[in-house]
Amino acid sequence: GATDIRAAEAYAPSNIALSKYWGKRDAARNLPLNSSVSISLANWGSHTRVEGSGTGHDEVHHNGTLLDPGDAFARRALAFADLFRGGRHLPLRITTQNSIPTAAGLASSASGFAALTRALAGAFGLDLDDTDLSRIARIGSGSAARSIWHGFVRWNRGEAEDGHDSHGVPLDLRWPGFRIAIVAVDKGPKPFSSRDGMNHTVETSPLFPPWPAQAEADCRVIEDAIAARDMAALGPRVEANALAMHATMMAARPPLCYLTGGSWQVLERLWQARADGLAAFATMDAGPNVKLIFEESSAADVLYLFPDASLIAPFEGR
Ligand code: PMV
Repeated sequence: GATDIRAAEAYAPSNIALSKYWGKRDAARNLPLNSSVSISLANWGSHTRVEGSGTGHDEVHHNGTLLDPGDAFARRALAFADLFRGGRHLPLRITTQNSIPTAAGLASSASGFAALTRALAGAFGLDLDDTDLSRIARIGSGSAARSIWHGFVRWNRGEAEDGHDSHGVPLDLRWPGFRIAIVAVDKGPKPFSSRDGMNHTVETSPLFPPWPAQAEADCRVIEDAIAARDMAALGPRVEANALAMHATMMAARPPLCYLTGGSWQVLERLWQARADGLAAFATMDAGPNVKLIFEESSAADVLYLFPDASLIAPFEGR
């Protein structure tokens, strides 16, 4: 019963891919078609607690609210917990608190599943290292494989059918002056999950086939540029990678476009400022919000251009 479960808590940061994960070779195991590289969002993430449920049935609380059993997140979280329960009757109470401002309009599946993995491992008394946790988190949400660590993380595609070599690897590369700004365009939930969007693109987009090889090449260039702390090499490649991913979706049939008029307005303003010398670059995921990367020396100019943006210093205090 619930006495077999101890209470455990964990935190995981969210992350933003600099070279994107887009397309799976195995949907059940979330094995990607290409590697990806991300930067974690420090104290923007998920705090999760797992304990035995006193009520005798599963409960999932999110940001202070008990979720309806039919809620999509509750169902996904509990299906994921089944990996740890292995068919045993062990009712759980899962409490997740997101520290990401809702106004930022960022998805939280990466930090959510990474924190849940860590908390479940603690609750079930499993002695797992971070690489093990990354492999398991990957099954909850691909991008969660990268949220096990702070800083820059590469998720290796791997080759194995069972996925044992498909997990995050923390890059031993610090860049204290690295900055991220989130420009919120639309705070609402996305109409089409990244999971569905990815599968639809792989299945129907005539522009998808060249993507995996290009993304692998981008990962290598991006990692080298991070190692050299070279924003002039990094930024253009990050932006091109994101736009190439969105191009594969826009070519899907029917087309899929997460970017809205507001996203394009942000991009046009950015590109105008870049023509005037600003070294800031954009990346976008399965939603309309725009994330900018730049160095501390450009922070004032970026915030002047986008006064409502949220500024994140991923290495501060680390
Ligand atoms: O982890 P998922 O299944 O939500 O996929 C994330 C997909 C992107 O955010 C668009 C890209 C990425 O690498 O994070």
